[in-house]
Amino acid sequence: MKIAVVGTGYVGLVTGTCFAETGNQVTCVDIDANKVARMQNGEIPIYEPGLDVLFDRNIAEDRLKFTTNLEEGIQDAEVIFLALPTPPGEDGSADLKYILGVANDLGPILKSYAVIIDKSTVPVGTAEKVHTAIAANATVDFDVVSNPEFLREGVAVEDFMKPDRVVVGTNSDRAKKVMEKLYAPLVRQGNPVIFMDERSAEMTKYAANSFLALKITFMNEIANLCEKVGANVDDIRRGIGTDSRIGKRFLFAGIGYGGSCFPKDVQALAKTSADYGYDFRTLRSVMAVNDDQKKKLLPIVNDYFSGDLKGKTIAVWGLAFKPYTDDIREAPALENIKALLDAGANITVYDPEAMDNVKKLIPGITYCHTAYAALDDADALMIFTEWPQFRTPDFEKMGKLLKEKVIFDGRNLYELDTMKDQGFTYYSIGREAVNPVVLA
Ligand code: UDX
Repeated sequence: MKIAVVGTGYVGLVTGTCFAETGNQVTCVDIDANKVARMQNGEIPIYEPGLDVLFDRNIAEDRLKFTTNLEEGIQDAEVIFLALPTPPGEDGSADLKYILGVANDLGPILKSYAVIIDKSTVPVGTAEKVHTAIAANATVDFDVVSNPEFLREGVAVEDFMKPDRVVVGTNSDRAKKVMEKLYAPLVRQGNPVIFMDERSAEMTKYAANSFLALKITFMNEIANLCEKVGANVDDIRRGIGTDSRIGKRFLFAGIGYGGSCFPKDVQALAKTSADYGYDFRTLRSVMAVNDDQKKKLLPIVNDYFSGDLKGKTIAVWGLAFKPYTDDIREAPALENIKALLDAGANITVYDPEAMDNVKKLIPGITYCHTAYAALDDADALMIFTEWPQFRTPDFEKMGKLLKEKVIFDGRNLYELDTMKDQGFTYYSIGREAVNPVVLA
């Protein structure tokens, strides 16, 4: 099939590259001429494990192309993906200016029937707005379909190539056939393409992400309560996750969820609810609890240093909002670093992928080449991202490098017994503190 993908952000590039990999002719369109030129030269603009190999191969085999020219990009395309940003506006609602801008441009240049696919996460009712915008100037038949993505950063290629399910919102039989053909290679193992109307497909995406955010937040609150009653959240997770109605995944308590999706989508669904006069109370709680959770370790650090962080050096392991990505959007580490700087602390950090992105935002901290270098002469270690390389460190070496053997762990990386044996003071989430400092 001939496919156009408008917008080469994270979702657009994964979509375009993966559909090229399944044998389609894909042209990616973006207004950023510099980025397009770089991609034309074979340079991949994002870090996503496994994507580079597919990107190189499909460019080399002539199935993946890039242009800044929308008309040229969509020429003869049977399907046109819109994978454009939907940043939250002041009030939390998704801003549709990019999507509707392209929809307006598409009308006059469509030359034959095409399925226009909303891939971005967009509020309920957007497919209808896109339809109206295109129809205003279109001279040919077309359908607008909602086809939300469920890609996790870091495993996006795998999620794309082997989806748990594909959700397609359309009432058009013609569009359904096109979508079935498009996704056939990806659902051969029997995972379903679930058809529904546009509004339900749009809502499905928000419901999925909000539910996952709720699941994590619930566990974070269980963790907070565990600390008070003297229980261990890891055991609770194992104890409830084996119930297939609950499921094992997304039950890890920690320093709060971040990233480009959960915070934005929970906020947007709450806004949609408010717009329709419905007070979605659980969503409001999820947002409030997560905001607090991200700051949860700060008072503990403050107490440890008797309320005076001036001149203390805090080593930070992990900046990205989760492992295997350089994405720092809504990452808990950033808010914490800023608060520590405000309190007069010095910061030394290490993250395997995300340091370049943070350098632009937070100058005046020390970026280190290794995890251990960040510990050298630091007064304490804080952990914000569960990169695998942090999981089994050389504790003896850590103890020698740190001025004080104290770790504040937002990701529960270490066993409590190990920390006891190694003689660390160790604070984590939803578990008893090891060798805590007792306040006078
Ligand atoms: C998410 C959805 O999973 C994906 O389907 C959607 O399309 C986009 O949003 P992503 O934001 O890439 O993907 O990351 P994900 O792995 O879902 O993690 C989101 C956040 O939740 C991270 O901050 C992570 O640290 C946190 N998390 C996840 C927990 O705190 N505990 C868990 O058990 C799982």
